Amino acid sequence: MKVMMTFEQIIERVERELERIPLADPPKSLFDPIRYTLEIGGKRVRPALTLLACYLYNNGIEPAIHPALGLEIFHNFTLLHDDLMDAADMRRGKRTVHRQWDANTAILSGDAMTIVAYQQMAMVEPAKMGQVMELFSRTALEICRGQQYDMDFERRMDVSEEEYMEMIRLKTAVLLACSLQMGAIMGDAPEGEGELLYRLGIHIGLAFQLQDDLLDVYGDSATFGKNIGGDILCNKKTMLLIHALRRSDEEQHARLVEWIERKEFDPAEKIAAVTRLYDELSLKPLVEEKIKAHYQAAMRELDSSVLEPERKAMLREVCDRLMRRKS
Ligand code: IPE
Ligand code: IPE
Ligand code: MG
Ligand code: MG
Ligand code: MG
Repeated sequence: MKVMMTFEQIIERVERELERIPLADPPKSLFDPIRYTLEIGGKRVRPALTLLACYLYNNGIEPAIHPALGLEIFHNFTLLHDDLMDAADMRRGKRTVHRQWDANTAILSGDAMTIVAYQQMAMVEPAKMGQVMELFSRTALEICRGQQYDMDFERRMDVSEEEYMEMIRLKTAVLLACSLQMGAIMGDAPEGEGELLYRLGIHIGLAFQLQDDLLDVYGDSATFGKNIGGDILCNKKTMLLIHALRRSDEEQHARLVEWIERKEFDPAEKIAAVTRLYDELSLKPLVEEKIKAHYQAAMRELDSSVLEPERKAMLREVCDRLMRRKS
């Protein structure tokens, strides 16, 4: 029997391939931040999903290497700009690029990363190029839409749960979905399987962002690698805040709105006050239920795949692992 590749081996391969991308042209001020970002870690979820999906249909990962790298580099670009937009000081346990260097560096190094991502995409075999570029470009533009909604929502008080779900579908879920479908395309998956993995990826991605919002409040900064409470400080309309606004009684609502509108405050004090309100309203279990529902929806998609049971189990294991994440 053929020995199956493990997820650890896939991640290792991603790391090795990332190191091989030439990012040493002058000026250092453009490329140092890019290498810094790629070297300080990250879970490598997206490229790993691409390679895994390819492997599941193809028994090999080679055809998917370049698109996988492109997706990871693109993801890292979004983080540079996202940290600037969110005024975040810490990522992966290190100073964010705009803090370590400055805002202009985060902008331009980020721009350069998008281009490097496209270079990787352009290395796929010509027969796949059209499909790959269509999927990737559509996804990239959707992420921009999601990020803009995220920013617009900071200033709004009437964001609905539906609007929030669409925003996180765009800013986060489509890239995970694209990663899986990309692997299916490169692995010559049978008709319909790429779309099935895309739908699975959307559910996993929605669960992933809901979980990110929870970790932003209830996580441990040392393992999460980001400062806790960043979303609260920005008045991000997370699932927690949307339900806090909706479920609070008159006194709680007034307290919450006061914190949201206050211009000057001690950050630690605001985080503690808003977290206390979330706790009073028992919002954590509510979000956990929604995470579970999307995980189950993803698993229902997996059930209808044509993959053999042992291959489905591999993908399920990776999804399980993501759902247990603390970082
Ligand atoms: C962070 O993504 C941005 C979100 C979509 C929440 P990850 O949690 O995958 O970040 P890294 O790449 O592992 O650092
Ligand atoms: C991330 O959303 C979405 C993208 C980077 C496209 P967040 O702003 O919640 O991500 P983190 O928490 O900073 O990683
Ligand atoms: Mg952010
Ligand atoms: Mg953000
Ligand atoms: Mg977040």
